[in-house]
Amino acid sequence: MEKIVINGGNELYGEINISGAKNAALAILPATVLAQDICRIENLPDISDVKLMVDILSLLGAQIKYINRNTLEIDTRFVNKCEVPYDYAKQMRASYYFIGALLGRFSKARVAMPGGCFFGVRPIDQHIKGFEALGCTVNIENAIVDASVDGCMYGSSIYMDVVSVGATMNIMLASVKARGLTIIENAAKEPHIVDLANFLNTMGADIRGAGTDVIKIRGVENLHGCTYSVVPDQIEAGTYMVAAAATGGNVLINHVIPKHLESITSKLEECGIIVEEDDESVRIISNGRPKKCNVKTMPHPGFPTDMQPQMAVLLTMAEGTSIISESVWDSRFRYIEQLLRFGAKVQVNGNLAVIEGVDKLKGAPVKAVDLRAGAAMIIAGLCAEGQTEIEDIKYIERGYEDVVKKLQNVGADIKRVEIRDPQATVVSAG
Ligand code: UD1
Repeated sequence: MEKIVINGGNELYGEINISGAKNAALAILPATVLAQDICRIENLPDISDVKLMVDILSLLGAQIKYINRNTLEIDTRFVNKCEVPYDYAKQMRASYYFIGALLGRFSKARVAMPGGCFFGVRPIDQHIKGFEALGCTVNIENAIVDASVDGCMYGSSIYMDVVSVGATMNIMLASVKARGLTIIENAAKEPHIVDLANFLNTMGADIRGAGTDVIKIRGVENLHGCTYSVVPDQIEAGTYMVAAAATGGNVLINHVIPKHLESITSKLEECGIIVEEDDESVRIISNGRPKKCNVKTMPHPGFPTDMQPQMAVLLTMAEGTSIISESVWDSRFRYIEQLLRFGAKVQVNGNLAVIEGVDKLKGAPVKAVDLRAGAAMIIAGLCAEGQTEIEDIKYIERGYEDVVKKLQNVGADIKRVEIRDPQATVVSAG
């Protein structure tokens, strides 16, 4: 077991290259089972969630060949199982994409209820509503989702009661080979929705409107293998943008799509940070102490909930009082308790966090309570005076490729350290 140790206070200078998007990769990998063929997927982030997804594909009978660290060839011709057991599914949210993908391939799927970061209740009723509209029968027993259809699925018009990334993608996966036209209304518009649609279209699907709130999917009989490169990770890029802004200095963030970053860019600019956009990069130049600003998380193109904890860290050091309003998840402030250890002044009231800026944070022993909360702890540690130790870094490894190396390259004093006696550490941390 390892922890991350940071000696804070260094300004960051240099360049950071962004990896492929986790949330796109985690939908594209299950989607490969829809084609009985070979897909070559490039720009996959080398993170533990992708490894787990690959393990599930192998379990189902896919043959996997690593071309290099970020490129895989996946042969799904011999996939012959349509069941994802609990031990695998519980480890991440995106395991539920196998319901849609296996329904599309075999007209049946048995997938244990998904796990993932805890942000409160995470229902899947909209996924089920979509599968049922396509003609499937869905039962949940002993935490296993059992979905099947007699014969084939038929396209249908589905209005999403809430804007859901997961349900939009799962319905796309299930309907891509259904007979006729499926229309998803009030669909999510995140960059990974567009990336999944682009991937499926490269395999021969007929999907239009991804990136708007009406997606039309005309079913095709067969999909074929293809070569596809995953879109850059919007949230990884946003995390380093905030890290650069919070620590001071001047960092060029490469391999990004600046359009995907607009909501983050505009909030940083409101805080007085200089953001220079180029075709495939953004430069972040800090400009003294950040100014306060209010943030409300929203589905895309609003400010992403997955950037909320990182942004909160920046605002703990801003001049004045800022308010964060979390409108996507009902329990996404669990990390604030850890942030208080740095000397931050934050009060949480329901889905609001009121942040009174302080002059300085002070290093502290903390935990990553989930993936993005872990990223926030790193940013706080980079800014804080003195040493910060972050435990439970397995959460961070789920979503950030080479986070320590990327930050070392821009001048951060950060390293991974073996925890010799985990039990003793747990006790001393209370
Ligand atoms: C995905 C991301 C997650 C991100 C979230 C919102 C992955 C693997 N995870 O999660 O990091 O925080 O999008 O951008 O891509 N809801 C329902 N019923 C449903 C589905 C969702 O009520 O059937 C609600 C949820 O409780 C939540 C909101 O809809 O309040 C958004 O959830 P959703 O967009 O589905 O999030 P995920 O796809 O699980």
